[in-house]
Amino acid sequence: MAGRIPQEFLDQLLNRVDLVEIVNSRVPLRRAGREFMACCPFHAEKTPSFSVSPSKQFYHCFGCQAHGNAIGFLMAYERLEFLDAVEELARHAGLEVPHTDGGGRDFSRMLLERVVQADRFFRRQLRVHPARQRAVDYLRQRGLTGQIANAFGIGYAPPGWDNLCQALRGEGVSAEELLAAGLANRDEQGRLRDRFRDRIVFPIRDRRGRVIAFGGRALDGDTTPKYLNSPETPLFHKGAELYGLYEARARTRSLARLVVVEGYMDVVALTQHGIGYAVATLGTATTAEHVERLFRVVNQLVFCFDGDRAGRAAGWRALTVALPFLRDGRQAGFLFLPEGEDPDTLVRREGQTAFERRLEQATPLADYLFAELRGQTDPETLAGRARLADLARPLLEKLPDGHFRDLMAERLRREAGLTTTRLRPPPTAARRADPNPRLVRTPLRKAIALLLHRPELAQQAVVNDSTLVDDGEPGIKLLAELIETLRDRPQLNAAALLERYRNTPEGAILERLAAWEPEAPAEGFQFDAEFADILTYLRRRDDPRERLPDILLRRGAPSALSAEEREALRNLGKPQKI
Ligand code: UTP
Ligand code: MN
Repeated sequence: MAGRIPQEFLDQLLNRVDLVEIVNSRVPLRRAGREFMACCPFHAEKTPSFSVSPSKQFYHCFGCQAHGNAIGFLMAYERLEFLDAVEELARHAGLEVPHTDGGGRDFSRMLLERVVQADRFFRRQLRVHPARQRAVDYLRQRGLTGQIANAFGIGYAPPGWDNLCQALRGEGVSAEELLAAGLANRDEQGRLRDRFRDRIVFPIRDRRGRVIAFGGRALDGDTTPKYLNSPETPLFHKGAELYGLYEARARTRSLARLVVVEGYMDVVALTQHGIGYAVATLGTATTAEHVERLFRVVNQLVFCFDGDRAGRAAGWRALTVALPFLRDGRQAGFLFLPEGEDPDTLVRREGQTAFERRLEQATPLADYLFAELRGQTDPETLAGRARLADLARPLLEKLPDGHFRDLMAERLRREAGLTTTRLRPPPTAARRADPNPRLVRTPLRKAIALLLHRPELAQQAVVNDSTLVDDGEPGIKLLAELIETLRDRPQLNAAALLERYRNTPEGAILERLAAWEPEAPAEGFQFDAEFADILTYLRRRDDPRERLPDILLRRGAPSALSAEEREALRNLGKPQKI
């Protein structure tokens, strides 16, 4: 659905908003010299180490190293995804977010509009259609109150071939649009047929609350399939959406945990019984996208499955999918229900308290993982323990770096009776093993840090053909790029520069450099003088005359010079070509 956002817009946005104001309205700031300070909202602390730079429009915590621009702050603080953070900032700045996918956006808009029309139609039928009593009785018989049906926007697709199609055509909607929005199919004779017929309809909302698709349940036990979902459309990707997530977030501003269940009715029934924090996958297995999205909202997930074979398999799959997301502070639990029960039937029978007790007692991921592996091996024998280690190792290697990973490795040693475990280093180890954790202050890095501090330096920089030649010196390419960008767009601030490198290796370095304090301003210290010095050094670095003293020192005698060097020596004192 989301197109790409043009760079120019992000530049404009980051120029328009004030990070100090954005932060201050959520985390009160105190002025401290040129910066603003607060206790860091991203880790627990008593003395402030979270600083916001008004000039760079960049925040940095010296305690936990959290850092970023206004977009990054909203993503981290409000737990928004990138596009939502941009939308939020744009709203704040009174700007409209443009998208660069051209016709794609109009198409998505049209689809959204059609789905909204269908949603209105389905909900209306539950109130007015002559056959509505069937639907109402069904909902009642399943124990739903009118209030909860309303809260989820449940509707009714009446019996008949083309009720919805007729109604929407009456509103000027074309057959092609109905097909594209996944609301209709053509039969063998090419006639337009409603996709949902004589079904209870559950609207599926995206994370902003817009209805993007439907799930429909048959009213009797014989109709197959029992549940029918909208097909994949540009609006709707089953593997990414979660039923009930929007509703849960809208209901409770700060959720502590989420329960992941399998069915629409499970979500609705749990909510009706006071457990308003359940979400359901949409007839697919748990995906990485699901887990990532859920951990953006809460730190604690409980996966709830039926106790049968299929449920066990689905649980194990959820475990393997969740492993890479288990940063320290995040938890996943697993709850397998008694045979023949699902959350819907159970919560109706036992009520909220008993069901929540089950949730509290969900098996922690670590216990589930080892219990499952022990069941597949024989820990009494050497071979069995070796096998246990072999099975566990690739799983534990999926864990991100952190204490939890270390503890799991430790536990594997205990479980398998090993003295060592050889886990491959975590995926982020390369970055962590940076031999320069503090980034040594080379002239090039200093130049980049100065540019981030004072982007206007790019305008006065004296640059010639050789200054920024990529000779492999680390940072030279990046510096050249930054100077060029700033010369094209003199209004960019550090935040906008950083935004261009979001999720790139260069971005990681830039963020660290942005956190550098410029060296203590000595008497008469000038940023522009220092920057000019560095550029002068760069300009001269491939000029043999500049290197002559070095060369002579190294080689001891002029006779050891190359023809080129001798030529340069001969030309010393002649007018410079630079
Ligand atoms: P279940 O078969 O477990 O049904 O499907 P349920 O949720 O208990 O439904 P009720 O209580 O009989 O009404 C779980 C989920 O799997 C998907 C749906 O998303 C459903 O909510 N599903 C199931 C389908 O997509 N198609 C089907 O035919 C069946
Ligand atoms: Mn059920």
